[in-house]
Amino acid sequence: MEQLMRDFFLFLSKNKTLTKLAKKYGLRFGASRFVAGETIEQAVEVIKQLNKKGLAVTVDYLGEFVDNEKEANEMANHCIEAIQAIGREKLNSQLSLKMTSMGLDISDDLVMRNMRRILEMAKEHGVFVTIDMEDYSRCQKTLDIFKQLKKEYDNVGTVLQAYLYRTEADIEDLKDYRPNLRLVKGAYKESPEVAFPDKKDVDDNFKKIIKMHLLNGNYTAVATHDDAIIEYTKQLVKEYNIPNDQFEFQMLYGIRPERQEQLVREGYTMRVYVPYGTDWYGYFMRRLAERPANVAFVLKGVLRK
Ligand code: FDA
Repeated sequence: MEQLMRDFFLFLSKNKTLTKLAKKYGLRFGASRFVAGETIEQAVEVIKQLNKKGLAVTVDYLGEFVDNEKEANEMANHCIEAIQAIGREKLNSQLSLKMTSMGLDISDDLVMRNMRRILEMAKEHGVFVTIDMEDYSRCQKTLDIFKQLKKEYDNVGTVLQAYLYRTEADIEDLKDYRPNLRLVKGAYKESPEVAFPDKKDVDDNFKKIIKMHLLNGNYTAVATHDDAIIEYTKQLVKEYNIPNDQFEFQMLYGIRPERQEQLVREGYTMRVYVPYGTDWYGYFMRRLAERPANVAFVLKGVLRK
């Protein structure tokens, strides 16, 4: 049943008509639990509140699968606006973005032009930029672009997904770039030809790649809400004397906020991924796919109205 619901919401997440409708009608159905607002001003207020609690942030202007140059350029402008806001308001925040919103599906030239614009501005304001990882079909291209950009800029990192068979090899392949990587389980619907179908295998691979990347001496962001993975990381860094400034935990805005604050109290760097913008639909559907309790929460919200 859980798998069926997961597949259903992942299927819905790709629906273009619903994506357009969602943009038009604004944040609905409890999405504001997971999305900080539709404007940069609203996002800044949320980031300030999180920073006050000792939580670091990575802010994301929502958008994906852009199919025309004009929109891709506008998306990049929004990212630049967010970087300027981080600088102006002196926020403890990085930036996250998706390559398909920068024009990945249109042309390499376009995506590189937009990424360089963003990374120049980010460098000026001392802001680190993480390239989110999308579905498997874009993985190789995203890594190729990341490698190219990493030769030109220090302030860029990316994400690897534990559910992909290829990820162990990618950790090895990227090692010499000394990359700051966010490690996650993976949020898209993938075929068993490229990704572990069983949760247990994903969890085992997650632990494996966390260990590999940390022991390679590279900065590691462990992005999960899973206590078993968090405890594993804590034990690992203790066992190998890995300093607290070589890793951090990350969670999504609106998910396990008490746990986030508890990790800060324990002395760890805890970064919250804060999405904002009008293109909230796909992101919201992936959160519903992850956890039936999130669906129950949304249904309660809808029924109360
Ligand atoms: P999972 O969903 O398996 O949950 C494991 C356990 O965590 C649960 O059994 C429960 O114990 C606990 N838990 C989870 N939610 C809870 C809740 N609301 N309340 C209480 N307990 C809860 N994906 C991707 O493909 N590309 C990307 O670039 C990113 N980026 C990204 C950034 C950040 C900061 C995060 C946190 C995640 C991503 N992801 C991602 C998403 C990621 O791949 C994954 O889909 C989600 O994090 C869910 O997986 P978990 O590791 O949290 O474990």
